[in-house]
Amino acid sequence: MAEPGYDATYAAWRQHPENWWTQAARGIDWITAPTAPFDASAGVYGRWFPGSVLNTCHNAVDRHVAAGRGDQAAIIWDSPMTSRVETTTYSQLLARVAKLAGAMAARGVAKGDRVIIYMPMVPEAAMAMLACARLGAVHSVVFGGFAAAELAARIADAEPKLILCASCGLEPGRTIAYKPLLDTAIDLSPHKPGGVLVWQREALAATLKPGRDEDWLAAESAAEPHPCVPVAGTDPLYILYTSGTTGKPKGVLRDNAGHAVALHNSMRMIYGLQPGDVSWTASDVGWVVGHSYIVYAPLLAGCTTVLFEGKPVGTPDAGTFWRVCAQHGVKVLFTAPTAIRAIKKEDPEGKLLAQYDLSKLEALFLAGERCDPPTQLWIHALLGKPVVDHWWQTETGWAITSGFRGLGLFEMHPGSGGKASPGYDVQALDEAGQPVAPGQIGSLAIKLPLPPACLPTLYKADDRFRESYLETFPGYYNTGDAGMVDAEGYVWVMSRTDDIINVAGHRLSTGAMEEVLAGHPDVAECAVVGIKDSLKGQVPLGMVVLKAGVIRDDSDITRDLVRLVREKIGPVAAFKDAMVVQRLPKTRSGKILRATLRKIADGESYAVPPTIDDPTILTEMEATLQALMR
Ligand code: COA
Ligand code: AMP
Repeated sequence: MAEPGYDATYAAWRQHPENWWTQAARGIDWITAPTAPFDASAGVYGRWFPGSVLNTCHNAVDRHVAAGRGDQAAIIWDSPMTSRVETTTYSQLLARVAKLAGAMAARGVAKGDRVIIYMPMVPEAAMAMLACARLGAVHSVVFGGFAAAELAARIADAEPKLILCASCGLEPGRTIAYKPLLDTAIDLSPHKPGGVLVWQREALAATLKPGRDEDWLAAESAAEPHPCVPVAGTDPLYILYTSGTTGKPKGVLRDNAGHAVALHNSMRMIYGLQPGDVSWTASDVGWVVGHSYIVYAPLLAGCTTVLFEGKPVGTPDAGTFWRVCAQHGVKVLFTAPTAIRAIKKEDPEGKLLAQYDLSKLEALFLAGERCDPPTQLWIHALLGKPVVDHWWQTETGWAITSGFRGLGLFEMHPGSGGKASPGYDVQALDEAGQPVAPGQIGSLAIKLPLPPACLPTLYKADDRFRESYLETFPGYYNTGDAGMVDAEGYVWVMSRTDDIINVAGHRLSTGAMEEVLAGHPDVAECAVVGIKDSLKGQVPLGMVVLKAGVIRDDSDITRDLVRLVREKIGPVAAFKDAMVVQRLPKTRSGKILRATLRKIADGESYAVPPTIDDPTILTEMEATLQALMR
């Protein structure tokens, strides 16, 4: 029987959302099935699958071994950084995860405890996540490109019982010693973990602190395998910190049941993948895309996932992505547009791509930022396969809008993020919270309740959750993105409505960078804006006004500022430019006009804001910024 198409599926969800999700929940093994699909009276806006009991690790690993997939590859680690390719079968994954969970349990980790994972792209990062899930412990993975201070903020907030880290990460041309960064972070944090397990890598071994640090492999080898611990479906699976508008990161919480159901369902509905298929998400386990589509969703669905330690270019060349696809028979590749732009720059005619047999590759999915149509069309022409841009956020955990290979909807609409996934009612709203006409720009909002897998709240911060997302438009979740929904239902995400910027697919807070700049002793006031960049989409640009009487070379100050952001936030901020200016444009009430500054820097036309204090400054800024851009 033919599968129903997108329109029928979306209509079925709209008509009976709870039945629809009950149906989707059949893809998961329950210890106790949910008593209802949804409890509107629980939590901040309701909770999915109340009364259920399950284990996410069982669903991602054990059940596939029990069903005869033990010899199938679960994880293929492909590391051009170390010239290694290693396969872990489902049976091997089960054995390692069970023993790692045993080692963690022996060190006191139990259901509900938090565990921080600070790891590069090695299979042990995924194993650590699964071992936490096995114990019902709550992991929080911190991306390796963050500095010690950011890691410290996450340790302080999550209060982990144990930290798992690797001795080092490998970036082209340099080895990053993770352990000293972790040591500094633990020193900075008021909360101290009970212990640290260190995965020692060949490239650089870490020195262990006696009494606190232990060798991971030795601990794992000596441990007894631990069974899966039953957890409530509404218990948390993980916390993933993401940038908000202030320096304090938001702890996005994900629960077990909703996450398992929605992610399992998405593999077929969105990506068109079946058990046994190979999927590759070229991202990092430190980001939500990595959590969902490097680790959990492919494994929940019994697929093989490729875990790649390398870059789209330079490891060794712009053909790497195509080599990996051909070598491992990847059916669906998922990455960020910035990676495709990097490849396009080095291999504009696709000569490297043409060297590989990509007959097994069926589609390319993109997310992390809006894919610019020229990039989407370029890669589509070379691959001759669907290239699907889909829109999502750390908060949602899976695509809000997409093309749907499982539902026969993958016609390209370059510039659009596709149509709403069943589960999401997406609307563009005006300032009063009323839907605007099709094709008109508004604030993109999702009608409550959010579907399963979306955040039920922020960790220890229900009020911040309400304030940040639910209060602007009562009855809706405010995505923080602006855009439109056209007459056919395609959603076009155009920009953020807050101070968040997207640098190489990484979400960063300009507010956090401003806090760092403002901490410099010579800086009186500052602004950071995201300006256009042909490779990374956006990059931050800092502008500072010095305190009266400071006599220092501008270049000295900017060097200090670049170093400070790298030290406090991390290299991932890609903060490479700052300039000293005499004054910043402000409203009469003193608010810096960041949006106007960004438009001037990007050479876009702008309206002189009626509330501006002194309009003459704009001409001054135009001259300065345009000189800098040249
Ligand atoms: N650990 C430590 N440092 C890291 C790191 C990690 N895991 N990841 C990145 N960095 C460092 C980089 O080495 C770089 O340092 P540098 O300033 O000394 O050069 C800095 O952080 C910025 O990294 P990035 O923005 O990734 O730029 P890049 O120049 O290394 O690579 C691209 C550019 C486009 C090739 C790369 O950004 C890319 O492939 N991005 C994919 C985006 C992605 O996966 N997004 C996730 C959402 S889908
Ligand atoms: P993150 O939480 O890091 O995944 O970043 C989420 C933000 O990235 C979104 O709110 C958007 O601003 C942007 N984003 C992600 N994917 C897309 C996309 N396909 N189109 C447009 N913007 C996107």
